[in-house]
Amino acid sequence: MMTDNLNKPEKMLFSAQKIQQRVVELGAQITKDYQGKKLVTIGVLNGSVLFFSDIVRVIDLEMEFDFIRLKSYSGTSSTGTVRLEQDIHADIAGRDILIIEDIVDTGRSLEFLIKRLEGSFAKSVRICTLLYKKEKASKNVIPDYVGFEIPDDFVVGYGLDYNQKYRNLDSIYRLR
Ligand code: IMP
Ligand code: MG
Repeated sequence: MMTDNLNKPEKMLFSAQKIQQRVVELGAQITKDYQGKKLVTIGVLNGSVLFFSDIVRVIDLEMEFDFIRLKSYSGTSSTGTVRLEQDIHADIAGRDILIIEDIVDTGRSLEFLIKRLEGSFAKSVRICTLLYKKEKASKNVIPDYVGFEIPDDFVVGYGLDYNQKYRNLDSIYRLR
């Protein structure tokens, strides 16, 4: 295969240190908002794995973990349809649900997820996303907790991939 300089991590947008700082702030906010409650945190696989594992450690509440796997992206573009590849397992009736996402881009995944949870009689459902392409995203679903708002660039690192690559980088980069 020929190597080229395209589709490689280019400019660092958020350093590991900056991400960790923001994660601690979000965790403190969530701890405060849910004081005295128990959470079910639902991580959206695969992208949210690093963010999920960092933020749960700075949320000082009783919680259960659950995961859901959705697929919509191919390369650097959204396919427009969202597929459920693995469903949640927890009984969420009467529970306070916090969805943990890596990024809200078009917002279609979240719309899909919210629809999936409708009718499950959750007591509350909130969304926490590390990154939010606010200008681009559908206004039908607005995240409750946002790490950073970003412009419509394709980004990788800290869980985010380009064709499954770069998820293990500890900082977030714009893709060239
Ligand atoms: P949606 O367009 O909001 O439905 O985003 C769907 C999913 O696509 C996100 O949860 C990410 O996993 C992935 N995605 C969207 N934008 C990016 C990006 O800039 N880099 C890497 N993955 C992305
Ligand atoms: Mg995702």
